[in-house]
Amino acid sequence: MPTLDVKLAAALKSREERQIRRRLSDPKSDEDLVDFHTNDYLSLATSQDLRSRFLQKLQTAPSVLGSGGSRLLVNGEGHHALEARLATFFGSPKALLFNSGFDANVGFFSCVPQSGDVIVYDEYIHASVHDGFRASRARDSTFPFAHNSLNAFGELLLQLLRERPGLLSGEQSLFLAVESLYSMDGTVAPLVQMVEMLETLFPKGNGYLVVDEAHATGVYGPQGKGIVALLGLERRVLARLHTFGKALAGSGAVILTTELIRDYLLNYARSLIYTTSLSYANIVSVDCSFDLLEDGTAKKLAAGLLDLSTLFSTTLHTHLHTYSIPNNLLSLPSHLTTPPPDSPTLSPSLSHLPTPIIPVFTSRPRPLSAFLRSKGMNARPITWPTVPKGKDRVRVCLHAGNSREEVYALAMTMVEWARGEMQKVADNRQEQKMQLVGPIAKL
Ligand SMILES: Cc1ncc(COP(=O)(O)O)c(C=O)c1O
Repeated sequence: MPTLDVKLAAALKSREERQIRRRLSDPKSDEDLVDFHTNDYLSLATSQDLRSRFLQKLQTAPSVLGSGGSRLLVNGEGHHALEARLATFFGSPKALLFNSGFDANVGFFSCVPQSGDVIVYDEYIHASVHDGFRASRARDSTFPFAHNSLNAFGELLLQLLRERPGLLSGEQSLFLAVESLYSMDGTVAPLVQMVEMLETLFPKGNGYLVVDEAHATGVYGPQGKGIVALLGLERRVLARLHTFGKALAGSGAVILTTELIRDYLLNYARSLIYTTSLSYANIVSVDCSFDLLEDGTAKKLAAGLLDLSTLFSTTLHTHLHTYSIPNNLLSLPSHLTTPPPDSPTLSPSLSHLPTPIIPVFTSRPRPLSAFLRSKGMNARPITWPTVPKGKDRVRVCLHAGNSREEVYALAMTMVEWARGEMQKVADNRQEQKMQLVGPIAKL
């Protein structure tokens, strides 16, 4: 084998041995399973209503196929109109389309932070933000803080202000990168408190919040505008990212920001400049999804979805308790099992919002996922390196189109699996005891 092949094959083998090798699933094998894993939270990907609106709009759209080039070369009318619509809808000065949320994060973080600037980020921030700031001029000044910890965030800000006079004087900027709803944990960022801290500690206005709303789009806020809009923070964030590939059943993304930053991105964001812009059909499909947000259809779907979330977590929580299932076998995150704090400290806390993403922690995610599969349910195991070591889980993604029976059955099937595992352990112990007692009894 040529050397390159040897090296690549060895890397894959090593992943195989560590049980972290990624593979595509067979499309046929997923067909009849109940979907508890896609990000199609509002079930719009299979909506007849969306489908017929899309087909109807396609009939009258002036162009439906490829855009023909980079946005800078071919500024399609559809692209232009969609941006204007989204800026108005989200209450933002400007909007700029990207081909994906990944491209948008890479584009923004690779070029907006300048030399000497600092990027602080929640440790659970999406990989695309990492890829962005690795390519940025601020790449040597990036600092993580513990997930959703206001204490850790505050301490980090104070330390940076002490160490970097440019931040205090306002000559340098600090960017805070967070997700409003975290994709792997279903946790909600304390955005209000973060904005308040930034504004207090950076009175010169050089502390900037950038919020990735990929998983909140369509689900939260007025007309599904996201959590920034839910909290009325539109004017206090520098940029918001909304993606179209999750609840909106499309693909692509939009960055909502100022006119200056939009202009800067058009000039410097390589993931925007050096790629063919979205096809017209894609623009039409996204436009139709926003029709559903605007006319209230999505709001009803989202309300049903969040009810399902509460049903799932309360059913599972109750039965874990009833059958004394150990935490290492199956457990829910604390934000779903403890009551919300009595008195929200500074500002409203959304930490206990029901969410469509529910991580069910287990030390045996693959066997659990396989068991669910054998019962007709598709919920995927998520392991390191996607999540930190020791935080393996089966991630449940719920959808507006799931029935209450399906969701209840999912929780109960997880419990059935855990009880089976407990029984196996008990049987093993009994067998070992018998092996010990047998010879003694003969004496
Ligand atoms: C938080 C977050 N941001 C950005 C992205 C990328 O978005 P897209 O799928 O549109 O590339 C994802 C998708 O995995 C995500 O989960």
